[in-house]
Amino acid sequence: MGRAHSNAFAKVNHFFDLQYQVVRQAICARDQDKVKAFAQKWGYKSVETDWRKLVQRDDIDCIDIATPNNTHAEIALAAAKAGKMILCEKPLGLNGTEAEKMVAAVAKARVPNMVWYNYRRCPAVTLAKQLIDEGKLGRIFHYRAKFLQDWTINPELPQGGAGLWRLDVKAAGSGVTGDLLAHCIDTAMWLNGPIDGVTAMTETFIKERKHTQSGKVEKVGIDDACAFLARFSNGSLATFESTRYARGHKALYTFEINGEHASIFWDLHDLHRLQYFDHRDQGQTRGWRSIHVSDGDHPYCGNWWVPGLQLGYEHSFVHQVADFLKGLETGKPARPDFKDGLATDYVTDAVLKSGETGRWEKVKKTGK
Ligand SMILES: NC(=O)c1ccc[n+]([C@@H]2O[C@H](COP(=O)([O-])OP(=O)(O)OC[C@H]3O[C@@H](n4cnc5c(N)ncnc54)[C@H](O)[C@@H]3O)[C@@H](O)[C@H]2O)c1
Repeated sequence: MGRAHSNAFAKVNHFFDLQYQVVRQAICARDQDKVKAFAQKWGYKSVETDWRKLVQRDDIDCIDIATPNNTHAEIALAAAKAGKMILCEKPLGLNGTEAEKMVAAVAKARVPNMVWYNYRRCPAVTLAKQLIDEGKLGRIFHYRAKFLQDWTINPELPQGGAGLWRLDVKAAGSGVTGDLLAHCIDTAMWLNGPIDGVTAMTETFIKERKHTQSGKVEKVGIDDACAFLARFSNGSLATFESTRYARGHKALYTFEINGEHASIFWDLHDLHRLQYFDHRDQGQTRGWRSIHVSDGDHPYCGNWWVPGLQLGYEHSFVHQVADFLKGLETGKPARPDFKDGLATDYVTDAVLKSGETGRWEKVKKTGK
């Protein structure tokens, strides 16, 4: 994510007219040589190898957290105390309890804050939001999401350490639930409102893996796969599924929403398209439309190229920074903010709990 964010910081003021300018003042990582090389490549003016020093610097206005999940809270609490604006990667905390402290810290410090649930800002997803808000779908009945990968099937793959911290529950907090389903849940609640209750099944297919740091075979604490049912406050029903054991799938994030008048389908592998079916279309030509979301009047697209030229994954991050800066300018803060991140953590907490109890679990509300 260091590269995805840096790319967004570098590009945002070229494509969006904003009062605020991103200055790549400093980048922090633990290895001096690597961080220097990164700074040179991505145009940062200085480096730090200890985030505590970075947070204390007077020439830094904003801290961007793109480190493993178990470091988010500690860095965010220190950054808020130092009065910095904070951008934080998802999931916000390792769990709701940790995220609550982060929400309280930014509220106390009154600092602007945002969580990198970037899929909201893929133009086709933003268009879906507009269509729903305009009432095009009518009453919503169903929400269906999945996020499938296949990179942890090999039992020889160790857990922990660089690149593999996602398999270590102490660093990641959970497996696919906090990593992949968190994205699906954030998008779902943005498009379709709060989730009231869930019932889940979770599984850890490979029970033990060697730990990179200890060198010993240790119990695996993450969920390798999770499927859950959910009820939204608006009465609609949902299914969510995620796994890292779906051979052939690298990042198959899809969602479908079925409403009274129309349906919407989106697929990350084809992220510049929105599939749309409207029952009110004239009968003989009624059918699923594949909207190429690249026209000047599509969300964000007018800031880029001429119609017909598509945008990709990296643009969602640029859009997120643009909206964050616009929020500072207008006084209307961009979302998802920390409180939205907490709401997602509450859902993942309930999902993981239900995976253990086998019961329906209520989702705690943030009171927003
Ligand atoms: N929004 C998205 O689509 C998306 C995608 C991938 C990852 N993420 C999130 O971004 C975060 C990072 O994930 P990633 O895939 O980039 O991981 P990564 O392992 O590729 O990168 C993490 C970086 O943090 C550094 N790091 C670890 N501890 C540190 C410390 N104490 N001080 C300074 N640097 C430290 C590591 O050396 C590494 O360079 C995670 O929270 C993850 O959930 C979000």
